[in-house]
Formats: sequence, C-alpha cells, structure tokens
Amino acid sequence: MLVPSAPLLIRARKNGYAVPAFNINNLEIAQAVLETAAEMRSPVILQTSEGAIDYAGMDYLAAIAHTGSRLLKIPVAFHLDHGTNVALVEKAIASGLYTSVMIDGSRLPLAENIKLTRRIVELAHRQKISVEAELGAIPGVEDKLSVTEREAYFTDPEQAEKFVQETKCDALAIAVGTAHGAYKSTGAAILDLARLKKIAALVKIPLVLHGASGVSQKILDTAHQGCERLGDCERLEGATGIPNNQIKAAVKNGIAKINIDTDLRIAFTAGIRAALIKDRHVFDPRKILGPAKELMKKVVKEKIALFGAKEKV
Ligand code: G3H
Ligand code: 13P
Ligand code: ZN
Repeated sequence: MLVPSAPLLIRARKNGYAVPAFNINNLEIAQAVLETAAEMRSPVILQTSEGAIDYAGMDYLAAIAHTGSRLLKIPVAFHLDHGTNVALVEKAIASGLYTSVMIDGSRLPLAENIKLTRRIVELAHRQKISVEAELGAIPGVEDKLSVTEREAYFTDPEQAEKFVQETKCDALAIAVGTAHGAYKSTGAAILDLARLKKIAALVKIPLVLHGASGVSQKILDTAHQGCERLGDCERLEGATGIPNNQIKAAVKNGIAKINIDTDLRIAFTAGIRAALIKDRHVFDPRKILGPAKELMKKVVKEKIALFGAKEKV
C-alpha cells in the first residue's frame, strides 16, 4: 500500500529507528528493495531522482512502486528525491502518483528557500502528500570542497528551527558531514554529531540523512573485477563511505530517514560484472540481472538491520 512518508517518519523518530529510502531506476532495483523490506517487515521509501525520471519516466517508475506495494502489502512511500526543478515537483504533486516529495531549495538564499518550500508544502498538503525540504548543502561527487569549506555549508541549528516553523515541512534534510556519491571524504568520514544533537533539540520533525552510503570495499572489489580502472572506476579508487557506527549514532540522535543510492549502484554493477565474468557467453538478461538483484537484496537487508527498521510493521 502506498502511504505518505510523514506518518512513517514520525513513528520512526519517536521510536528511535530510521526508515530506509532507496533510489530506484528500474524494475530490478525496486524489486530488490520491496521484496527485502517485505521479508523483514520494514517500512520503506522508494524514491526517484530527477535523473531516474529522465531515464525511465515517472509513469513507469510509479507503476512499479504502486504494483510492488500492493502485491507485498507493506507500507511504502513513493517519493520524489531532490526536486530542484519546481515544474517537475508541481507535476509530481498534480500527477497523484507520489505520496511524498522533496523540494530541494538548498542552493537558494534562505528567504527564497523558505518561500518556495512553504508554497510547495501548501500545494502538497492539500493532497495529503508529505514534503521533505533541505537546509544546508550536502556536497556531491563533483565537489572539491575542503573540510572547513564544507562546514560553512553545514546546517545551522537556529536557522533549521526557523525554517521548519515557517515552512511547515514534514521532514528536514540536513548537512552534517555526509556527501553524495562514492567519495564522501578523503579519509574516514566524520559526522558532526554535536551539530546534529543541537538541531535535533530544536527541530522536532523527522530529520533526514542524505549521502549515507557505506561504500563496501568488498562489493567495490567485485565491481572492479576484470576492469581496467579507467574513467569512473579510476575515480572510485580510495572511495570511502559513512561507517556503520556513525549511522547508528545519527539514528540515535534524531535521523529518521536515510537515503541510499550509491551502495545499490555498486552492488548492481558488481552483480552484473560477476555474472558476465563467470560466464562470458551469457546473453540472457535474466541471468545477468538476477545476480545483481540478489546482491542488492543483501545490501538492503543490511541497511534495514543497521537502521533498526526490522519488524516495525
Ligand atoms: O541524491 C542523489 C541520488 O544519488 C540520485 O542520483 O540524480 O544520478 O539519479 P541521480
Ligand atoms: P548516497 O550517494 O550516499 O547513496 O546518497 C544518496 C542520496 O542521498 C539520495 O538522495
Ligand atoms: Zn540526496
């Protein structure tokens, strides 16, 4: 059953666990997420980025989410991730396909972010659609910011309190040291837990951690099998993610939704590469994508356990 994300997240924050939110781009990724969540009786969020919509189309991705949630009988929220294109956010709301949207005005000046977020909240709430907003900047793959430069973009606790009061958003994505993609930092990623605690003391709505993938070296090595480590793979050399103990600390301190994309991408690629290396003559897509789905299911299982979401439905 598709449900708005707000009640799932409120319950998670109140009870000290986080709802996993996975980015989906195709059937195999969505099935790996939904089947595992159903097996573990975990609430789950399927989310589509603007890039995923460009790739597969809103209608196809929504059809997968709607069908999967109906067949598996677990509460699933279908969420638009990082809505920076306002027209697309409005389209997602008007379509009736999404039960949750993120309006990402984090690159805008504070007043403009507040104004835009408040308008989207009014629009979405009329249709019982939940809204996640973002304050602070979560760096991405291309960011070459030093640690001190990054801190300048971390979420300010007092600003976060004002932002939530003025926008009435349902959940808030904050920047406390994570980054999107496989490169979180040059060394071990350290979350600013003191800042998270201050934010959590002032902001009572569920908090969201983006860029939270763990980047398993073992799965990464499988993904690199037989690869010459050029292009994107050369860039993956030395990639580090967020350690599990930091994720646990974040959940303990108010994080109620955790976004994972990179770890599924790596597992998907590792599964495909292993299948093609094992049998160089295989050309049945099911024999290539099947192992990828199985590897992604393992990752999903680990995340649900790590976030404490097992047996919460
Ligand atoms: O937060 C970003 C997600 O990892 C989505 O990435 O825009 O390449 O689909 P994407
Ligand atoms: P990762 O790149 O760490 O998986 O983060 C994904 C994300 O935050 C999607 O919004
Ligand atoms: Zn994100």
